[in-house]
Amino acid sequence: MRAPALLFIPLALSLACAPRMSTVPIPPHPPVGASAPRPAIVQVGASVLRTPAAEVPAHDLNTPALHALVSRMLDTMRTAPGVGLAAPQIGESRRIFVLEDRAELIAKLTPVEQSERARQPFAARVFVNPVVRPVGDEVLVFFEGCLSLSGYVGLVPRSAEVEVQGTDEHGTPQTWRVRGWPARILQHEYDHLQGTLYIDRMLTRSFSTAEAAKARFSGLSIDEVRRQLGL
Ligand code: CO
Repeated sequence: MRAPALLFIPLALSLACAPRMSTVPIPPHPPVGASAPRPAIVQVGASVLRTPAAEVPAHDLNTPALHALVSRMLDTMRTAPGVGLAAPQIGESRRIFVLEDRAELIAKLTPVEQSERARQPFAARVFVNPVVRPVGDEVLVFFEGCLSLSGYVGLVPRSAEVEVQGTDEHGTPQTWRVRGWPARILQHEYDHLQGTLYIDRMLTRSFSTAEAAKARFSGLSIDEVRRQLGL
């Protein structure tokens, strides 16, 4: 692995698979008695997050049940809000993830942050039985969080470019080769399907509450953050 490029810590720490730092924490349980409660996002400690997810059999593709599951995933991701969600995060141990980045989320970042992260809007994508492979050996480090570890972040090295292959919920084959922030999201969500969390890959001394990381490191280079952390 090459040394990560020097990058600036984004001020806002808007993270792959993580919500913007909200002052309203995600409730640990869904509201009881509410009509059609949204599925809770499973939090770290649950075995489903540490279990390799099951392949989706071909006969489940393009079925009402699968479409309903994907709809729930998209709804949950958008409400969080996050930019990616894997099925185990709503308690479904199946090899499915969704991702989407929206202009309204990106607009909350400064222009510098947007540029550093190579973040740009893309329409919702659904991957069933995906395989994500790195392309090349360039590695980038950014703070990253997860809707299943609400309120925390860590620096995670990720491949700068990946290719994902799978199908969509209809069973239509899909291939996407991409760099930048979507590549980070894809690696993060693919990890969820193996029972891997970003904390398994992070530079452990960077682990922090999102609030503390923002207060300490906003505007600093990765090199400076590492110096301060003794990394
Ligand atoms: Co996650």
